[in-house]
Amino acid sequence: MTARDIAPATGKLGILTPGLGAVASTFIAGVIAARKSGEEPIGSLTQMANIRLGERDEGRNPKIREFVPLASLDDIVFGGWDPISANALEAARTCGVLEERDLAPISGELEGVVAMDAVFDQRWVSKLEGTRVKTGSLWEQAEALIDDIERFRVDNGCDRLVAVWCGSTEAYREPSAVHETVASFEAGLKADDPEIAPSQVYAYALIQSGVPIANGAPNLSVDLPCMIELAEARGVPIAGKDFKTGQTLMKTILAPGFKSRMLGMRGWYSTNILGNRDGEVLDDPENFKSKEVSKLGVLDTILQPEVYPELYGNIDHVVRINYYPPRGDNKEGWDNIDIFGWLGYPMQIKVDFLCRDSILAAPIVLDLALFMDLAHRAGESGVQEWLSFYLKAPQAAGETPAEHDLFIQQTKLKNTLRWMMGEEMITHLGREYYDD
Ligand SMILES: NC(=O)c1ccc[n+]([C@@H]2O[C@H](COP(=O)([O-])OP(=O)(O)OC[C@H]3O[C@@H](n4cnc5c(N)ncnc54)[C@H](O)[C@@H]3O)[C@@H](O)[C@H]2O)c1
Repeated sequence: MTARDIAPATGKLGILTPGLGAVASTFIAGVIAARKSGEEPIGSLTQMANIRLGERDEGRNPKIREFVPLASLDDIVFGGWDPISANALEAARTCGVLEERDLAPISGELEGVVAMDAVFDQRWVSKLEGTRVKTGSLWEQAEALIDDIERFRVDNGCDRLVAVWCGSTEAYREPSAVHETVASFEAGLKADDPEIAPSQVYAYALIQSGVPIANGAPNLSVDLPCMIELAEARGVPIAGKDFKTGQTLMKTILAPGFKSRMLGMRGWYSTNILGNRDGEVLDDPENFKSKEVSKLGVLDTILQPEVYPELYGNIDHVVRINYYPPRGDNKEGWDNIDIFGWLGYPMQIKVDFLCRDSILAAPIVLDLALFMDLAHRAGESGVQEWLSFYLKAPQAAGETPAEHDLFIQQTKLKNTLRWMMGEEMITHLGREYYDD
């Protein structure tokens, strides 16, 4: 196999986050702590995972970051937009994810990540009141974002830029006619079409500026025909949507296990309490709907009820999120899973995950940014399905169903890296160890 032609990761990489809240500030603080005081970037494949190459007995198992040319943490510069947070330090202190003992030594760097004024419209996030916002028509706001991006690139001497949406979840809407083509979307921007959400204005401006973008929230942004068309035309990688953390991570770890042993399922009830700003936004039914749709799709695609109606044809799948301020960012997710086995005898599994949302999401932001930058340098554009590993509602090619099984997604990710570098795919067949 021949390796792809991949441009080297030299110079600075700017990582832009529309949204400078809990996830973005925890991500930025963690990267700064890793490069300043050597904290381990736990949870990040790009920094910590190894990848097997060749046959099992060859012993080739390098770190991913030594195998593929990734930007170094030392070369990252941070930027972002937010209608409320002034800078990353204020955002980190407000959300309360990290303790002062972790923030104090890096407070200067965090304060230096100053939020640019946001494209914001309260119609899409009714619980928030944004003050640091752009004005003018949607077209003018898109142009202002393009100016911000260019200014950031020049001021920080960046070689390359990449973006990860870390903004609030927007109200649920189906795609409409304005999202069909680049031409209809641009006409919509000029006409202030009410179906265009702020996240879509960012997506448009970033892709137009040649900046890859991944969407960490469940609302539509890059998974629209117009954005796919634009990304392909501009040669820009895109990936959506919704960081796979917490309960959905558990679901995509457990469900493939039940299915692999042909255990049946009658129901899966998931409920959460969380008290951060994300929880407050999701307390609004319009915003929760975006999350619900993204969370519910997972089980069906993993369990394939159409193939196994006797095992998975009659599942009650319920997902609830309750805003409960005392918990802050430290979410508690309960799952009650009703399964059945031999002769239909029922069993129950209870999972009580006391997790920390932003602690789980921060390494995903880092990996998505570094892998999107890699894909761009490797000449990839459009939907990056191999990054579905990190996403709750991943994009897939055309009408192809997305893959949700975490372990298949991991194989896909690692095989994509092998393919980029001209290494053999690993099938785990293992016949070669027995044949002479
Ligand atoms: N933490 C997780 O585990 C996790 C998992 C999946 C998805 N997400 C999603 O990631 C996003 C960020 O989560 P969070 O916990 O940091 O939330 P957060 O509320 O702490 O931060 C979101 C930030 O986005 C800002 N914002 C809102 N509208 C904006 C706009 N139009 N432009 C720029 N900024 C805007 C808000 O002011 C806020 O500071 C949410 O959409 C959340 O649903 C988080």
